[in-house]
Amino acid sequence: MFDLLVRNANLPDGRTGIDIGVTGGWIAAIEPKLGGEAGHVIDASGRLVSPPFVDPHFHMDATLSLGIPRLNRSGTLLEGIALWGELKPLLTHEAVIGRALRYCDMAVSQGLLAIRSHVDVCDDRLLAVEALLEVKRLVKPYIELQLVAFPQDGFYRSANGEANLLRALDLGVDVVGGIPHFERTMTEGAASVRRLCEIAADRGLQVDLHCDETDDPMSRHIETLAAETVRAGLQDRVVGSHLTSMHSMNNYYVSKLIPLIAEARIHAVPNPLINITLQGRHDTYPKRRGMTRVPELMAAGINVAFGQDCCMDPWYSLGSADMLDVAHMAVHVGQMTSLAAMRQAYDAVTINSAKAMGIEDYGLEIGRTASFVVLQARDPIEAIRLRATRLTVVRAGKVIAQTQARESQLTLEGRPASLDASTYAPPLGG
Ligand code: FE2
Repeated sequence: MFDLLVRNANLPDGRTGIDIGVTGGWIAAIEPKLGGEAGHVIDASGRLVSPPFVDPHFHMDATLSLGIPRLNRSGTLLEGIALWGELKPLLTHEAVIGRALRYCDMAVSQGLLAIRSHVDVCDDRLLAVEALLEVKRLVKPYIELQLVAFPQDGFYRSANGEANLLRALDLGVDVVGGIPHFERTMTEGAASVRRLCEIAADRGLQVDLHCDETDDPMSRHIETLAAETVRAGLQDRVVGSHLTSMHSMNNYYVSKLIPLIAEARIHAVPNPLINITLQGRHDTYPKRRGMTRVPELMAAGINVAFGQDCCMDPWYSLGSADMLDVAHMAVHVGQMTSLAAMRQAYDAVTINSAKAMGIEDYGLEIGRTASFVVLQARDPIEAIRLRATRLTVVRAGKVIAQTQARESQLTLEGRPASLDASTYAPPLGG
């Protein structure tokens, strides 16, 4: 007797006709044609049932603040940072919590149930830190929220960057952040990488740096991060976020760099929506794409996960907590159009992201928490193509969100029709 039984699911790994039995919030069985009774049955009818979406890079202290106090006119990263600096003194505890909770509601509706958010520690009040720690407690029943102590104005460049980062960690922030390319000099950037890795090693924490988010091919802090990761024994516990300078580096240097990243077992987290938007702003034509070398990193065995980074904030006016939107953009910007590459793009917003965040209780396997999403699509590629509707979102065996299937009624003269967007997809071969 199961509490919940999902019938006839397609799984992201290609298995079809699978039933998932849930007992006490856990996956108790997963195989074709399970027998037995169930308190509640979801008929997936050959649709994709996926582990939840995971966003390994976000800024929840800034989200949904678009237009406060003004819009970003140049569209650059640097004006975004300046604009955030104007907004910071205006933040209130209640407003940060209110916007973050609204965003988390949006995330749940999109089947996004784990988020790593950076939180700016360069405000001596640590107002956003305290607000997001509160949000973390509030959403714990349905979203796993990790927080990164992020010195937005520079670990050394801002007056109290180091002291505030340590205070934030003392308050319970989970991960050590940094922004070496924004320090005053390359030397200070490298020094910040070394110090941040030492802090993480001392405290047994993970590291997640905004690293080389620039079009400058000489921004090579990822090289230092790889070396310091090995020196501090932090393999598997370090994320290099963005890594956009790698887009502009020369191929010879990259041929040395990628093996160093692989050796250090650093997770790479590009943010396709933001990288394609913010990078190349100083170019005339041709304009660089800016996203790091995703297929090459993946081919080297490096774990690559895609983040959303921003949603309606000083850096980006769009976004809807939809990790399929992120994967869709990555497929285009990275020219990841083979069937295998599109499936890898799906993994990059699900299992690879969970790995980058160090989430162990994840995935559709017996003994794992029963959290999953039923999509209006038959497989991961169709899900990306359609940015498929998330029909049912389940967290620990309980349905926490439902959305009506997208279906259009056409009233064309002589051609009345009912159209489910997914019905036009041809069967996909290997
Ligand atoms: Fe970011």
